[in-house]
Amino acid sequence: MSLPIRIPFIYQGIGSLEQLRNFKERRVLIVSDKTVLQMVGDKLSDIFSGRETKIFDEVEPDPKDTIMVKCGDVARKFKPELIVGVGGGSAMDTAKAAYFLYGQESLRLYDMNVLVEYNLREKSKLVLIPTTSGTGSEHTPGLVVTNTETGQKMSLASFELIPWAVILDPTLTLKMPQKLTAATGLDALTQAIEGASSKMGSDFTQALNLYAAKILFHYLPKAAGEGAGDIQVRAKVHYAASMAGIGFGNSGLGLAHSCGHALGGAFHIPHGISVGVMLPYAIEFNKPECRDKYIEILECLNITGVEDPGATLSTMVKDILKKLKIPLNIKELGVSQESWEKNFEKIVGWTKNDIITMINPRMASEQDIRKIFQYAYEGKTIDF
Ligand SMILES: [Fe+2]
Repeated sequence: MSLPIRIPFIYQGIGSLEQLRNFKERRVLIVSDKTVLQMVGDKLSDIFSGRETKIFDEVEPDPKDTIMVKCGDVARKFKPELIVGVGGGSAMDTAKAAYFLYGQESLRLYDMNVLVEYNLREKSKLVLIPTTSGTGSEHTPGLVVTNTETGQKMSLASFELIPWAVILDPTLTLKMPQKLTAATGLDALTQAIEGASSKMGSDFTQALNLYAAKILFHYLPKAAGEGAGDIQVRAKVHYAASMAGIGFGNSGLGLAHSCGHALGGAFHIPHGISVGVMLPYAIEFNKPECRDKYIEILECLNITGVEDPGATLSTMVKDILKKLKIPLNIKELGVSQESWEKNFEKIVGWTKNDIITMINPRMASEQDIRKIFQYAYEGKTIDF
């Protein structure tokens, strides 16, 4: 039996943040960070005027368990009817954590178990509002937390973390700087392509992943370039990133993500950049298993009849990386030979043990992972 596809209410459009006014809950907890609140804080105060509102503004990048627990404590004390997470993946994940900790007051964060039913919505509703266009966290059942004891980034999941509502207002993304637009958008593109290449997808997830990939190929370079101030361009990327969130969230990812997680953890490279740099190598490695899927992706981009669809797709991704001013190999990301050698066994081990490696379309042995990283460090085309 397969799991159902769960999709929140999605309010989308320029100015759709106003939808918050129509939610009737009287006690509202806003979870965000100071930078985002500088942009949207006044607007939220206006929207929620006359209601009891509490703001948690301590979200940090790569949020630690301690911050999530602190936010959960605020929720337990304040007893909100509505929890609103507004920001990038870190803010949305912290809001998810608070929603869980408040919904189940006797549990700790690490007690979260994807197989257990919690009935979290009995106490509050969760609304997520992304202000970057990339992670898709507003649609996924997971959250990423940094364990303060081990330093490791961990994923926790419950299907109840898929929120009640999502608001996609592209206005909120207009001020995103070029680098953030490129990195987060690249995450979305990687998710769409890996989602569309997964063996666990369905016609439903394919519809979302393929269309998201088509839009991102076309509009992401514009959003990170001359179209940065064009709300229509921003809207296209914002919606596509969210579609990919539903798509990959219900199909799966692959080696670009498991290798990218390890690179990001070892060398502190932003997630979107580490997975994006690995994407061409993952596509090339997966060629023997993904020919039909790659043909399908290329058809969406009006490219037909190529001899080697994997090579063509990989080249197209490299072209996007160049347009986004992102290096094509790990060395050029600024990882020195010395640091690379020192961390090599660790990243191979992390990648091997990442659950995503196990769902990659082509089985990857430890030796394969080793070679993929060696090729990706030097920028060599995968030929094995
Ligand atoms: Fe990702």
